[in-house]
Amino acid sequence: MNLVVVSNRVSRASANEPMTGGLAAALLPVVEKSGAIWVGSSGRVRDGAQKEPFAEIEALGTGALAMLDLPAAHYGGYYEGFANSALWPALHSRTDLIRTSQDDYQSYREVNSFMARALLRFRKPEAVFWIQDYHFLALGAEMRDLGVTHPIGFFLHTPWPTRAIIGGVPHHRELVEAMLAYNLIGFQTDDDRDNFLSYIKFDLGLDIADGVVASRFGTSRCAVFPIGIDPAKFAAHAAKAASHPDVSRLRRSLHGEKLAIGVDRVDYSKGLVNRIEAFDRILTLQPQLNRAVSLLQIATLSRGTIEAYGDLQNQLAKLVSDVNGRHGEVDWTPIRYLNKGYSQTVLAGLYRTAQVGLVTPLHDGMNLVAKEYVAAQNPVDPGVLVLSKFAGAANELDTALLVNPHDIDGMARTIATAFSMPLVERRMRWEAMMAKLRAGTIQDWFTDFVDALQDAHAASEKAAGQKVPAELPAVWPVRSFSSIGGTRLH
Ligand code: UDP
Ligand code: G6P
Repeated sequence: MNLVVVSNRVSRASANEPMTGGLAAALLPVVEKSGAIWVGSSGRVRDGAQKEPFAEIEALGTGALAMLDLPAAHYGGYYEGFANSALWPALHSRTDLIRTSQDDYQSYREVNSFMARALLRFRKPEAVFWIQDYHFLALGAEMRDLGVTHPIGFFLHTPWPTRAIIGGVPHHRELVEAMLAYNLIGFQTDDDRDNFLSYIKFDLGLDIADGVVASRFGTSRCAVFPIGIDPAKFAAHAAKAASHPDVSRLRRSLHGEKLAIGVDRVDYSKGLVNRIEAFDRILTLQPQLNRAVSLLQIATLSRGTIEAYGDLQNQLAKLVSDVNGRHGEVDWTPIRYLNKGYSQTVLAGLYRTAQVGLVTPLHDGMNLVAKEYVAAQNPVDPGVLVLSKFAGAANELDTALLVNPHDIDGMARTIATAFSMPLVERRMRWEAMMAKLRAGTIQDWFTDFVDALQDAHAASEKAAGQKVPAELPAVWPVRSFSSIGGTRLH
C-alpha cells in the first residue's frame, strides 16, 4: 500500500515550533512514521496555468511532504471564503456567521478540482488516498470523475451539525452528494455520524444499512474514529520541560499562587469570551481568591483576515484588559494573555505547571489540548481538567469536570471547585482519563482508519462487481523539486 494523506494545512517536523491546529499536530507524528506521502498547501499561491503544481517535495520521516502552490485567483474564495466563512461556521453551528458568495463556492470547487488533478501523480496501483477535513468535501468526487478507482477515505476533524444547520450552507446538497464518493467517511463522535446519516436519510432520501450508503459512486461507510494523542510522548515532554527557561520562569513567577491554563486558537468556537467572563466572575464572587489564583491564556491568532476573527481578537483584548484593570494589583495580574504560540515540548511543561486546565469550547470536533493537558500531568499530583460538554473529547474524558460554557456562573463555581479539589479525587479522575487516552492513541486512530478504509473499498468493489485495474501509470516514487517563490499566505 502507498498511502497518500491530503489536507490543506501540513506541517514540517520540528519539535521547537508551535503547531497550527489539531489536524497538523495529530497527523505529523503518525505520517512521519508511516512512510506516507502528505500532500497539502505550500501556503503560497501562483498565477496562471501551472504545468507543475508541486512547489516543494521533501523527505518527511520515512515518507514525503508534497506542497502545492494553490491557484492565486481562487485561494481567497476557497480558504477565507467558502471553507472558513461558510463551512467552518456552519460545522460549528454558527450559521449567523456565514458570509459567502457564489464566487467563493466556485473557487472552493476549483481548488478541489485542482487538487484532484495534482493527485493523479500518485495514482499507483496500490495507492490509498486519505483526504482530511472540510476544505476538501468534494475532492473525492473530483477524483472519481478523473477515473480514480482506488480507495479514497475522508475524515472530518470538526463536528457535523444537525440537518437544519447544514441546510444553511449554500450548495449543501451538492456537497453531501459529492462526499459519497468516499469509501469511508470518518467522524469524531457518534453524534456527528448520526447527524450526517440523518441528512442522508431525510434530505437525500437514501437508504442506510449498518452505516453504509449506496450512491452512484458505489458504497460509502460512515463510522466513528475519535482522534487521539501520544500520551507517553506528552508525559515525557512534560517531565523534560520542567527545566526549560519558559517553564521555570513561569513557576518562579507564581509565588505559590495556583494557575489555570487555556491554550486555543482565537476562534469563536473555543468559548474564550465565556471563559474569561467566568474567571472574572470567580474573582468577583470569591474575593479571597484574588492573588491566590490566576489564568495563563495562550491565544494564538488564527484566520485574522476574516472579519469574525478580527472582531473576536479585538473583543478579547478589550475584555482581558478590563478584567485585569478591575482586579489587578501593582504586583499581581489575574490574566496573562499571550497571542503567541509555543512548541508542544514547552506546552507540555506549561500544562504540568497549571493546577487546572480550562477547555471550554461552544463546539469542538475533539479538542486535543484537553487530551494533552491530561497526559502532561504529574501522576503523583495531577491537575484538574475543566472541560466543555460540547467538545468531542468529553465523550472519552468523562471524569473531567464537565461544564456548560453558556452557564457562566456554573462554570465559575466549577473552576473554583477544581482549584480546591483534594488529591485523592484528582488522582482518581486523572487515572480514569489516562486509561482512556492510552486505549485510543493517535497511532490506533491512524491504523484503524486505514484498515477500515481498505475494507470499505473492498466492500464497495464487491457490491459493484468490479475489480481495481491491475496496471496504472507508474508515477512513484516522486521526484524532487526545489522550492520556488510565491506569496506566503499562512
Ligand atoms: N498548539 C501548539 N502550540 C501552541 C498552541 C497550540 O503546538 O502554542 C497545538 C496543541 O498542542 C494542539 C493543537 O495545536 O495539538 C490544537 O489542537 P486542538 O484540537 O486543541 O484545536 P484546533 O486548533 O485544532 O481547533
Ligand atoms: C482546525 C481545522 C484544521 C485546521 C486548523 C487550523 O483544527 O480542523 O483543518 O488546519 O483548525 O486552522 P488553519 O485555518 O490555520 O489551518
